[in-house]
Amino acid sequence: MKVLVKNISEIATPLGFEKKCGKSMKDIKVYKNAYILTEDGVIVEVAEGKFDESGFTGDIIDAENKAVIPGFCDSHTHFIFGGYRDEEYDMRLKGASYMEIQEAGGGIKSTVAATREESFDTLYEKGLDRLDSMLSMGVTTVEGKSGYGLDIENELKQLDVMEKLDSVHALDIVKTYMPAHDVPFEYKDNKEGYIDLMINKGIPSAKGKATFFDIFTEKGIFEIEESRRLLQAAKDAGFKLKLHADEIVDIGGGYLAGEMGAVSADHLLMANDKSINKMIEAGTIQTLLPVTAFSLNADYARARVMIDNGGAVALGSDFNPGSCHSNSISLMIALATIYMKMTIEETLTALTLNGAAAMGREKEVGSIEEGKLADLVILDKDRYKFLSYTIGVNIVEKVIKRGELVYD
Ligand code: NIG
Ligand code: FE
Repeated sequence: MKVLVKNISEIATPLGFEKKCGKSMKDIKVYKNAYILTEDGVIVEVAEGKFDESGFTGDIIDAENKAVIPGFCDSHTHFIFGGYRDEEYDMRLKGASYMEIQEAGGGIKSTVAATREESFDTLYEKGLDRLDSMLSMGVTTVEGKSGYGLDIENELKQLDVMEKLDSVHALDIVKTYMPAHDVPFEYKDNKEGYIDLMINKGIPSAKGKATFFDIFTEKGIFEIEESRRLLQAAKDAGFKLKLHADEIVDIGGGYLAGEMGAVSADHLLMANDKSINKMIEAGTIQTLLPVTAFSLNADYARARVMIDNGGAVALGSDFNPGSCHSNSISLMIALATIYMKMTIEETLTALTLNGAAAMGREKEVGSIEEGKLADLVILDKDRYKFLSYTIGVNIVEKVIKRGELVYD
């Protein structure tokens, strides 16, 4: 089945089937007055000018002289969770820090208690709503983590919910197993016991159910050597690696990510130069989550240092019930461009092709070119530069997933 997307004022896209590093992040391709032809969900032609419609029997989507960009690839979320932490957020607004709340038994632990309580069906229904919200902001591929079960059964429950959601929802979901998000309450005096449980039972139980393994490498949570052991076990079991690194305290998590050959290290607010250089050398994508920095009222990650030294930067929402209860792509773009001083072209690459690469999907999605899935966003403006210029406003008008109009 062919689908023609016509009357496009401007197509703005990075090009390629690999992540973009350093200076090449800004080299996007812009087509003027263009069309896109798709067949069976895959892009077969992208060109300027008018497509000859005589004898064309496929479907036509009229972009009405608006701009088109690739569907956004949000490579860092924790969107399957029970309960909410609005009271904790209010405490933070009144001066308590994220870690103080965590140390007092709130934080991730309170979401773990709520997620264990919630049934598969409730988590599934909430997941559907959250995916709909992401789609309305132009996200077509999303990564989702477990990490609020912290036992064998409830971690798998989160992965299974995502598996079912992936089979019914237009968005594609890339699953990450994250039993090392925190030490659960019942192991509070026996962290080693929990690490052993994950290595001996947890990791084998999740094999084949998730692509990535992720860990919260942080002072007081999982320290460097504890993280290394867990990451090595996950790597040996065939998982690709991600780390929450250098979010609150610099303990060298970014450096460890490079050493372990992780696909991405995420947050990196406090990452030092040595860690940044190690990640660049190792080809580890540096995934920045500016809405979390904003929500924590923390310093932003040093995107300019990373990009100017040849690094590959991706952007993610980090949508979760605690540190960042927002999946806003438009706010993310505003913060990346204003506070992290990324250009809109770098931001676009970070949120599409590099986000795809951070999920291992760069061969299939993340750019508008022949051979990629037809995952497209039609903006309600005729130029892509409105993505940053229309500060903090969602300007997504239509979303096409695998050649099909899925949001209008
Ligand atoms: O990416 N830092 C660790 N994990 C999440 C927060 C999870 C939570 O607060 O529930 C993050 O910020
Ligand atoms: Fe996170």
